[in-house]
Amino acid sequence: MKYILAFIIFIFILSCKDKSGQTGKLRIKIDSLENIIENSYKPGFGEFMSSVQTHHAKLWFAGKNKNWQLADFEIHEIIEALNNIKKYQSSRKESKSIDMIIPAIDSMKEAIKNKNQQFFNHSYMSLTNACNKCHALTNFEFNIVKVPEKQTFSNQDFKTK
Ligand code: HEC
Repeated sequence: MKYILAFIIFIFILSCKDKSGQTGKLRIKIDSLENIIENSYKPGFGEFMSSVQTHHAKLWFAGKNKNWQLADFEIHEIIEALNNIKKYQSSRKESKSIDMIIPAIDSMKEAIKNKNQQFFNHSYMSLTNACNKCHALTNFEFNIVKVPEKQTFSNQDFKTK
């Protein structure tokens, strides 16, 4: 009886060992997957902002040409890029300030929905001010955005058909 019990305990210890071996293998796999995620490419804060800058400029020319469909597209591109900053650059403390631009974006969305040029112009100023306010808040006050003067995208037609 003693021997049988000792044998059972021996088998139990062996099976535990095997299990811990599996756990070890899983740990290695998880570590390597974490390593892949950690080192995979994600655009930087500044790259997302360059995209926001492009759509901010295009939004102006869309509104100026009363191309409301394009204006709606551009404001949503800005929203998407800002959401991507929150998602992919969550470790940057500046990302916490992104939402301060929401009231200005909401006002712009309303102006576009109402196809109201005057409201659009006013909202564009508020939006641009909000961009600069956030730059000041995050110590990037030297990064000043403004209403674009010239349409530099010569390969795009901003007029409606
Ligand atoms: C979180 C608040 C915040 C808001 C809101 C914000 N920005 Fe920025 N922006 C930053 C920060 C921080 C940087 C610097 C990023 C870096 O470290 O590269 C930046 C950088 C930039 C740059 C420089 C990119 C480059 O590489 O030259 C431009 C242009 C820019 N933002 C445009 C805008 C525009 C246009 C808006 C509004 C539609 C806006 N930003 C709204 C925080 C903000």
